Amino acid sequence: MRKPFVAGNWKMYKTVREAVELIDEIQPKIEELSGVETVFCVPFTCLSAVAEKLKNSKIGVGTQNVHWETQGAFTGEISPLMVKEFGKYAIIGHSERRSFFGETDESVNMRLQAALNNDLVAIVCVGESLDQNENGKTEEVITRQMKIAFTNIPKSQLKNVVIAYEPIWAIGTGLACDPLKANEIIKYSIRKPLIEMYGEDVAKEVRVLYGGSVKGSNAKEYFLQPDIDGALVGGASLKPEFIEIVRAAA
Ligand code: 13P
Repeated sequence: MRKPFVAGNWKMYKTVREAVELIDEIQPKIEELSGVETVFCVPFTCLSAVAEKLKNSKIGVGTQNVHWETQGAFTGEISPLMVKEFGKYAIIGHSERRSFFGETDESVNMRLQAALNNDLVAIVCVGESLDQNENGKTEEVITRQMKIAFTNIPKSQLKNVVIAYEPIWAIGTGLACDPLKANEIIKYSIRKPLIEMYGEDVAKEVRVLYGGSVKGSNAKEYFLQPDIDGALVGGASLKPEFIEIVRAAA
């Protein structure tokens, strides 16, 4: 049985004051809901304040990236040991990291190995561009992202992996992917490679999320799909509307 999982990706939004205000407003309502793992992946500057606020809470804290080394001369990066001081989750390979900051399938794999070796829960993002989608390349692109991301990741570490299918064309556009279509892509381009790499028993335990214009009003349609276990939420996680999404999952 895969426990529903809803993560908010705050991206580069919110000062510490704004972050604390939002947590104060929505935490009590999220705490009332059971049966769903909820996480906030916040900017580095908010980690300390958000972790402090949520220290006795079942809501988890994470980052939006993590480096492959535990320390070193890597200006602007964060190490898995540093993440662990505040939370236990890290998003890896978000399409915005891939398109704006040169993240590759290979660097995603290095970051994933480091995150798992340091006992973080990794939220690994995959997804195709509009061009790839329109040219019938979705399955090929995502299967490749999956195979490279999971190179040298042993079966025993999959319990700390969550995968997010985020079609790039659906992110921040309001053009959410059709839930049936998202389910099909997850089944053939994410679960199938997982089964090939790790076998059915392990693959079926991995949680796979959908991300891309998820709102309070459409979340439930995704959660009703058999291969979708939750959501990675951008814009709607910055507002009290996020509660509706967690409620739909719970
Ligand atoms: P939106 O929910 O704003 O479309 O963003 C999705 C996303 O990129 C989450 O990682």
